[in-house]
Amino acid sequence: MENFVHNIPTQLHFGKDAIACLPEVIGRYGKNVLLVYGGGSIRKIGLYDRIMDLLKDCNVVECGGIEPNPRIESVERGSVLCKENHIDVVLAAGGGSTIDAAKAICVGAYFEGDDYWEIVTTKGVKRKALPLVDILTLSATGSEFDGGGVISNLKTNEKMGNSFTYPSVSICDPQYTYSVNAYQTAAGSIDIMSHVLEGYFSRNEGVDLSDGIAEVILKSVIRNLPIALKKPDDYEARANLMMASSVACSGIPEYGKTYSGWVCHGLEHELSAWYDITHGVGLAIVTPVWMRYILKKDPSITPRFVSFAKNVFHLEDEDDTKLAYKGIDELEKFFTETGIPMKLSQLGIDDVHFEEMAQHVNRTGRLSNASVSLTEEDAVNILRMCL
Ligand code: NZQ
Ligand code: ZN
Repeated sequence: MENFVHNIPTQLHFGKDAIACLPEVIGRYGKNVLLVYGGGSIRKIGLYDRIMDLLKDCNVVECGGIEPNPRIESVERGSVLCKENHIDVVLAAGGGSTIDAAKAICVGAYFEGDDYWEIVTTKGVKRKALPLVDILTLSATGSEFDGGGVISNLKTNEKMGNSFTYPSVSICDPQYTYSVNAYQTAAGSIDIMSHVLEGYFSRNEGVDLSDGIAEVILKSVIRNLPIALKKPDDYEARANLMMASSVACSGIPEYGKTYSGWVCHGLEHELSAWYDITHGVGLAIVTPVWMRYILKKDPSITPRFVSFAKNVFHLEDEDDTKLAYKGIDELEKFFTETGIPMKLSQLGIDDVHFEEMAQHVNRTGRLSNASVSLTEEDAVNILRMCL
């Protein structure tokens, strides 16, 4: 088992009306609040009014209009607002895009250069950041319980993750996710699954707790996503998806395991950078193709796929290779049944930029260092198979 450090400083308030703690939580940091939100869903669900009511004694400056796949220009806009208004605390209300942008804004508030893209490309530094509180409205990315954020630059066709800051407090009320449509509910749930699948196929055997947590998260999503799709206001289903969201991307399901490269996320971020697609949909398309590809390329990884087929889908077969492929087929069937597109061509994507994507994703060696080492040519092959 590999060494690991557990260090998640976020306080998570989970459950019905968890938002009631907001005045006390914001009061810990000050009265000048930057409210960051997206395209308006928080108004439709009454969350905007509730926030304004709870924060009536604060000075709330608004930074709305954060895009899905948030742009660096929005980060700059929010950062400037923080500087101009002496903001004490940033409050993000929305999904992963809003929370990610808010994280970068918390860092951008102290940025002194001209090109805000530098805060995304500069790695490995401990950031000075404003405190961040968030109210989660979409179960997917785990941004409410990790320190990372993913920001897009349309000028350079880059979408890059970096570690910015952990939320000080995350408020997670599953009722706010009742209004998430079927497409985003499916995409978000597949993102949750992908966060544990990426680490699950690293080579370590016998890390029982991490593998067990990953399997339980997968089984929970497999059980609860169809319920949430059928009955969007099913509290238990939405609550299970929300809990799974926070733990899946927290690092916990990978404790004791070797870093696996997160190849599907790498490839998906390239696709979104060029085509602005929904993250979870890209993952749903890439993941089964990548699985079959690595299994064929290096059959020594078969035991991991056998565990996946047995423990997640309860499949049996005397032939391990057949069992491994059965598990992948079952996963693909589950994704397909949610009704999202399962081919890149359905999203209007062709192979024109695949070589550039493969080079860009491997700039830090994440393909070559993956649990099954891949070349840039392999990445292009995988993307072509997704068309
Ligand atoms: O913009 P609004 O009006 O909020 O609408 C959003 C958006 O259109 C809508 N939505 C959110 N909550 C809703 C709702 N609609 C109705 N009712 C609600 N309660 O859903 C749409 C998608 O929202 P978005 O925030 O983009 O989705 P998600 O949470 O999936 O975030 C995706 C972004 O997070 C990044 C992705 O790459 C992508 O940029 N990721 C962040 C990670 C992290 N911070 O750790 C890890 C992930 O792997 C991922 O890369
Ligand atoms: Zn993801």
